[in-house]
Amino acid sequence: MGLLKLLSVNRSENLFLPAHGRGNALPCKIKKLLKLRPGIWDLPELFEIGGPLISEGAIAESQKSSAYEVGVDRCWYGVNGATGLLQSSLLALARPGQAVLMPRNIHKSCIQACLFGGLIPLLFDVPYLTDRGHASVFDKKWLQRVFKKAKEIEEDIAAVVLVNPTYQGYSADMESLIKEIHSHSLPVLVDEAHGAYLISQIRPDLPRSAISFGADLVVHSLHKSAPGLVQSAVLWSQGDKVDPFKIERSIELLQTSSPSSLLLASCESSIKELIESKGLKRLKSRIEEAELLKDFLINKEVPLLKNSDPLRIILHTSKFGLSGIEVDKRFIKKRIIGELAEPGTLTFCLGLSSHKKIGKKFVRIWNEILTNFGQQKSFFFKRPPFSIVSKPYKPCSYSWGSDFEKVNLQESIGRISAEMVCPYPPGIPFLIPGEILDQARVDWLIEQKCFWPEQISDFVRVIS
Ligand SMILES: Cc1ncc(COP(=O)(O)O)c(C=O)c1O
Repeated sequence: MGLLKLLSVNRSENLFLPAHGRGNALPCKIKKLLKLRPGIWDLPELFEIGGPLISEGAIAESQKSSAYEVGVDRCWYGVNGATGLLQSSLLALARPGQAVLMPRNIHKSCIQACLFGGLIPLLFDVPYLTDRGHASVFDKKWLQRVFKKAKEIEEDIAAVVLVNPTYQGYSADMESLIKEIHSHSLPVLVDEAHGAYLISQIRPDLPRSAISFGADLVVHSLHKSAPGLVQSAVLWSQGDKVDPFKIERSIELLQTSSPSSLLLASCESSIKELIESKGLKRLKSRIEEAELLKDFLINKEVPLLKNSDPLRIILHTSKFGLSGIEVDKRFIKKRIIGELAEPGTLTFCLGLSSHKKIGKKFVRIWNEILTNFGQQKSFFFKRPPFSIVSKPYKPCSYSWGSDFEKVNLQESIGRISAEMVCPYPPGIPFLIPGEILDQARVDWLIEQKCFWPEQISDFVRVIS
């Protein structure tokens, strides 16, 4: 089927991102705009409209108003996803040669920023959940241990990046982590790609956005956790640790010179949905509906894992000896399309549209899968062999740009990687350019290859 045809059919239950669920949950104003003469809204940075970096015009006004409503100093809308704004943030935070402290479960976009910005990714290990193969959240004590080691390894640390909530919806106590980072006089960037809707503070039992705990920079993917069109995103900034001039300079470096007016309008309207009363009401009822669905599935003995995001359902497939990647294929055949298939789990994103009638179908498919595969023993994952803090052996950018050769994983011991090994989704690198392939890493990668057969190759590119 051709692309245009594929875009126009909708025969499945969409439990994947974008969160607007094939248009169902798009803000009314965007729906109305899209019903006008096709293309009428596709405009350049005309005088009255402006752009994210232009100080006058409708977009400047809109950004000012969004920042005011959310209670921060500034914000910039983005048209290249959280990816683009995370990368701009990193370039604003550190100079070439400086290090940025980041967790091992960082999104690949941040490593790419280090690559082209000449920054040193100082990667720290995070707790690991062996029953499902997920990176978990950590507390202040863990971070203190990380700081101690990081300072032994690297003198010039410019900033810290945190990822919260995770793709699967686990959330840490951000208040204490941000305080700890600030006690080292460092700025913190929070990749809150999966937590835009937390700015609504809709219920006290849900996590709060890092914005409310004083994070210096926070990036939201508005299509992942708000009802924005794909590629819409926003960067929020507050306090005086990061110079807005540096942020704008970095956005200009990476942003297209023709940002889409439709995407910028989508940024505006999806943020409004999270702060205005009608949108909040809709969000609240989606969350309540999602909680009912989770309760229903748990009552029917579907193995769901706990998380902090009511809109994400984690099916624990390895508990029954099954790979989430295989289970995903079965669900797709039965027309339920999930978001994140991993070796031990399959995560479904309910997004912001309604899925009222899905419960029974979900249970039926899961029970069919269990019957077809037969009851199997649960399996566990080995902890990745990462040290508490590590720095690539050779600079990331140098390694990526070096001449390379392709060697069999088994024969790569002692070599330096020239590439990133990174299943997508979730886009969390297992190996980055400049890292050494020691015995433990190679053994672990070979094991991971069995879990991700279509995503990890037998070969790795190493510096010649
Ligand atoms: C944690 C995290 N950060 C950032 C991104 C990038 O978001 P976007 O697709 O909006 O560029 C992703 C995408 O999967 C992600 O999982």
